[in-house]
Amino acid sequence: MKKIVFATNNAHKLQEVRAILGPEWELTTLREAGITEEIPENEPTIEGNALAKARYVWERTGLDCFADDTGLEVDALGGAPGVHSARYATDGHDFAANRAKLLAEMEGKSDRKARFLTVVALIEGGVEHCFEGVVEGTITTSEMGEGGFGYDPLFIPEGYTQTFAEIAPEEKNAISHRGRAIVKLAEWFRQ
Ligand code: IMP
Repeated sequence: MKKIVFATNNAHKLQEVRAILGPEWELTTLREAGITEEIPENEPTIEGNALAKARYVWERTGLDCFADDTGLEVDALGGAPGVHSARYATDGHDFAANRAKLLAEMEGKSDRKARFLTVVALIEGGVEHCFEGVVEGTITTSEMGEGGFGYDPLFIPEGYTQTFAEIAPEEKNAISHRGRAIVKLAEWFRQ
């Protein structure tokens, strides 16, 4: 059993990552690790934010931990919302408001190419490692599907006709940005 802190309180993320890593991993959430305050995410890059979150947990708990940070990069918007994906429309992780803003910004745009990028930052015994996962796709012109979270109802992964909010969770995990980064993390431990 590999016991490790996953620096999140997002139930959707936890469910996804638990499903990918399987039962031999015991994941502790931030709250369970005694961290109840919001961890600052003020770095200019996805990798910087992932590392900042992991370092925050390591410095306070001394426990092995990993953190993830994700951005949605839209070509027609010059890579926005990118590192600002969580606070695109408001300051408060308002998924619905973020989606509404993205649809508004994309109105009339023919180039709808986008990608999700996740960086997972691991600190094990004080040593840092980063793992990256990317999934290419396109932005829809309206919301489709009820599953997933965040921008999922607006993102169709390459090779699919349905959004991440419409495809089965196992399928999303198999091809998603976070899934790919987490698989690299698991492979690193297996070596
Ligand atoms: P975070 O840094 O992982 O919290 O991600 C930043 C923002 O990206 C979140 O607030 C979500 O809106 C969005 N996001 C992260 N992961 C996903 C995903 O798997 N699907 C859709 N949106 C996501």
